[in-house]
Amino acid sequence: MLFPFLRPALPEPDSWTHYLKVSYDQRYFSNFGPLATELADRMSSAYLKPGYKGVLCASNTAGLVAVLQAMNVYGKKVALPDFTFAATIQAVFAAGATPVVCDIDPDLWELCPKSLGRALQAHPDIACVIHVRPFGLRRDLEPVRAVCREHGVPLLVDAAAGLGAPNHPDRFGSDDGEIEVFSLHATKVFAIGEGGFIAAPADKLAAIKSAMNFGFNADRTYGEGQNSKIDEFRAAIGLAMLQRMAPITEIRARHAAFYDELFAGYDNARVAQAPGPTPWANYPVIFGSPVTKEVIGDFADNGIEIKKYYWPGLLKGYVGPRPVLSVPTPVSLSLQDRCACFPVYSDFTTETGSMMRERIERAAGLLAGATG
Ligand SMILES: Cc1ncc(COP(=O)(O)O)c(C=O)c1O
Repeated sequence: MLFPFLRPALPEPDSWTHYLKVSYDQRYFSNFGPLATELADRMSSAYLKPGYKGVLCASNTAGLVAVLQAMNVYGKKVALPDFTFAATIQAVFAAGATPVVCDIDPDLWELCPKSLGRALQAHPDIACVIHVRPFGLRRDLEPVRAVCREHGVPLLVDAAAGLGAPNHPDRFGSDDGEIEVFSLHATKVFAIGEGGFIAAPADKLAAIKSAMNFGFNADRTYGEGQNSKIDEFRAAIGLAMLQRMAPITEIRARHAAFYDELFAGYDNARVAQAPGPTPWANYPVIFGSPVTKEVIGDFADNGIEIKKYYWPGLLKGYVGPRPVLSVPTPVSLSLQDRCACFPVYSDFTTETGSMMRERIERAAGLLAGATG
């Protein structure tokens, strides 16, 4: 495939092995070691508002579980949107809670405040709301924060693909104290292989770190927890990655702008509204009709791999034995069949753009309503 959906780009070993000297000198390779601590400090100052502090963890999924465990959701309910990746609901199950699946906003594709309000009314025992930043899109959280505030329920944000440019003036965190979790998986923009980053108000971090470390208390008794820690090797890769994030996100923003301009010519393709400083792990498009196997094949025949994402949604996707509660989700059901994601590259050039344009336009069997 000339343009595969993913082209992971991790720092080469010679750019990060030197960091490991301190870990070898101290013979300290995990358990919040020196590099994991240094990376957490650097990422906290690059990405988070004052008063917030981060910790590295084994994956986004493991981070969500640890936060839910620290919030004591066991035996309670957790609200979340239908339009998300399997990991969001798997984390709720792993923490021993029952999911209450809600609908999404038709324009923003993320948790609909009205649908959430309906779920909170129907299930007053919801102990946490998980908001998902779909495709890492960096929208204003205030509408969902306001509903959580009104109902006195804590907000957890699954921002898996949301970690982008460091030192952006709009840092993560707020006075409402929501907790955000990011993925550092190889397929994300801040890529280290497997990993995650939890951003929390500083006073909530100890409970989260305890959940990440088998739930141990200071007296060695233990509650809900597991091992969600990251080792020094991946922290070393993270230190190298952090230094590359500014130029990489700049190039990816150019690739996204190329798609903005290209899809503006098609009246049956909707692109992301109000994306903010999104790192563009990929570029989502909602079409006017379902993205069928034939449509995907059309693009593949032209050298472009596109992917249906988040498809199927949670209510269609989960076929396991656990109970799942929900409110009506008509928007997610209609949207998930029409969504396709396009590849975004960290080495995008104008030449790449003209080759992609030609091929996307040629694959326009699907883009039947094209006006441009
Ligand atoms: C919304 C969402 N949540 C969670 C995850 C899982 O992240 P990880 O692989 O780091 O556990 C993903 C992965 O793509 C995701 O898209």
